[in-house]
Amino acid sequence: MTDRLMRGRPAVIAACVGVSVAGALLVARPALAADTPRGLTVARGNACMGCHAVDRKLVGPSFQQIANRYKGDPLATTKLVKKVKDGGSGVWGAIPMPSHPSMSDADVRAVVGWVLAGAPSSK
Ligand code: HEC
Repeated sequence: MTDRLMRGRPAVIAACVGVSVAGALLVARPALAADTPRGLTVARGNACMGCHAVDRKLVGPSFQQIANRYKGDPLATTKLVKKVKDGGSGVWGAIPMPSHPSMSDADVRAVVGWVLAGAPSSK
C-alpha cells in the first residue's frame, strides 16, 4: 500500500512540474520579448508611441514614413539621434518634436536604428 503510493508519487510530481512549466511559458509569451526588437521596447518605454505609430500619422509622422524619407541617406542615423535628443520642428510640419535629454545614447541609437529599419514588430 505505502509501496504503491510511493511509486505513484514521482509521476504525479512530474505531471505537476510539467503543467506549471507550460503555464509559465504561456503567461510569459507576450512579455517574453525574445523577438521584440530593442528599439520597440525603448519606444514603448519612452512614450514615443503617444505621438508616433508604426504605420499611420499621429501627432508626429509614422515610423514607416520616417524610414522611407531617410532611405539611402548616410547621415540619417546622426541626424535622427540628434533630433530625438534635442527635439525640433520644421521637417514634417510646424508641430515640434520634444527633446529627450535623459535618454541614454544606447537607447536613442537603438530606437533610431529600429525606426530606420522600418519599425518591424519582431526581429
Ligand atoms: C509630443 C509628441 C512627440 C513625442 C512624445 C515624440 N515625438 Fe517624435 N516627432 C514628433 C513630431 C511632431 C515630429 C515632426 C518634427 C518635425 O517636423 O521636424 C517628430 C519627428 C520624429 C522623427 C523624425 C525627425 C526628423 O527630423 O525627420 C523621429 C525619428 C522621431 N520623431 C522619433 C521619436 C522617438 C524615438 C520618440 C520617443 C523617444 C519620439 N519621437 C517622441 C512628435 C513627438
